Amino acid sequence: MTVIKVAILGFGTVGEGVYRTIESHADDLEAVLGKKVEVAAILIKNKQRERNIRKDVLVTTDFEDILNLPKLDIVIEAIVNKEPTFTFLQKAIERGCHIITANKEMFAHHGKHLIALANEKSVSVGFEATVAGGIPVIQTLRQLLKINRVQQIQGILNGTSNFILTEMREKKWSFAEALLQAQKNGYAEADPTNDVEGFDAFYKAMILSRIAFGEEPNWKDVEREGITPITSELIEAAEKLELRFKHIASISKEGTQIQVTVKPALVGKENPFYHVEGVENAVSVHSDIVGRITLQGPGAGMFPTASAVIEDLAYVCQNNNIKRNFNQTVSAELEQKKGKAKEFWLITGLSKNVIKPSITCIDEISNGVFVIRADKKDLDNLGKLDETISYFPILGEFESEVVSFEEKVSAL
Ligand SMILES: NC(=O)c1ccc[n+]([C@@H]2O[C@H](COP(=O)([O-])OP(=O)(O)OC[C@H]3O[C@@H](n4cnc5c(N)ncnc54)[C@H](OP(=O)(O)O)[C@@H]3O)[C@@H](O)[C@H]2O)c1
Repeated sequence: MTVIKVAILGFGTVGEGVYRTIESHADDLEAVLGKKVEVAAILIKNKQRERNIRKDVLVTTDFEDILNLPKLDIVIEAIVNKEPTFTFLQKAIERGCHIITANKEMFAHHGKHLIALANEKSVSVGFEATVAGGIPVIQTLRQLLKINRVQQIQGILNGTSNFILTEMREKKWSFAEALLQAQKNGYAEADPTNDVEGFDAFYKAMILSRIAFGEEPNWKDVEREGITPITSELIEAAEKLELRFKHIASISKEGTQIQVTVKPALVGKENPFYHVEGVENAVSVHSDIVGRITLQGPGAGMFPTASAVIEDLAYVCQNNNIKRNFNQTVSAELEQKKGKAKEFWLITGLSKNVIKPSITCIDEISNGVFVIRADKKDLDNLGKLDETISYFPILGEFESEVVSFEEKVSAL
């Protein structure tokens, strides 16, 4: 019986989950692939650490040992940072191996190059685990991309930020208190910048953009904002309106232009993201034939992430890469909807002298927190003039009655 030989780079949360899943699902893999899957080697950094790994598996700190294995079909990478992972995966492809990665930071930076190299060498690249952990968003997009045209993807892509926002609302905690709890639960790192400032979600958005539209915007043009400007007061004001803050990555194509934003927004009960709580992730895909599909589930963790990797393993073995022509533009209908003039915003930090006639006051929700209707461009200009102003879009329909600032806000 021929065997599919696998090497796993990294034996942390993801690497160990993948190893244990290959063991526990050996029969299923063999039934689907017609061959046994065997973990031949595991790369780690610290040789002293005790690990529960079978004696016949080579455990090494030297990547060359892995490349020198007499037979190797697939390299699964579950390490951290852009390097040495990128170099390892290039070498694995050069050797003729399929590769699978969970490393979004590396893949956002180097995915394009790895896929091009893999195409040259006629091997496949699996990267399901780089976006939204256990949610099969990449496979869903691959499936949709056969004929549908994806127009927009929105996602809650960072479980740590979503957990903090949920805790702040439910327990009436400050950002600092909720962050501390996230760190105690092991959801946030000692330095949480990557998660709370939106870098992690940004990397995932770039990967989604590339798969949905075949390209990504210039990274400098992407509006990236984390959850740190959201205060308990703003969350309380939003609750009065039955709205919830969510950190949302939005990827769309307008004409030939890719638009990506990664920032907090407010959603009402009718929005599928309203009930996405704690460390859960969700992705909503809008495409021209099927309309809107929303997937929700665990965005991280040992077995959810292993699930994504193991499905990739089956995918790369079947080697069914889809070639898609991305030269279409999105339908006029979506562009018209996008072109709608003014949107609703929750805003704080306004002072009377910056208010313009083009900004309409809808209501004062609590002291200094307003719902307004305005053009994004006007607000961006205000934001440049006065850094104390924070404003967050309210997504979807919003019931409103227009009043004047003078009528509503004598104290302003
Ligand atoms: N955790 C999740 O739920 C999750 C979900 C989706 C994607 N990811 C991504 O998956 C990757 C792995 O995450 P993780 O949570 O499993 O990380 P982790 O628990 O910190 O494990 C990292 C592993 O990589 C090994 N390693 C680090 N640097 C190495 C090097 N230079 N050479 C060889 N081995 C090295 C470590 O070795 P030692 O054990 O010897 O220290 C460790 O086994 C990351 O890129 C992460 O962003 C994680």
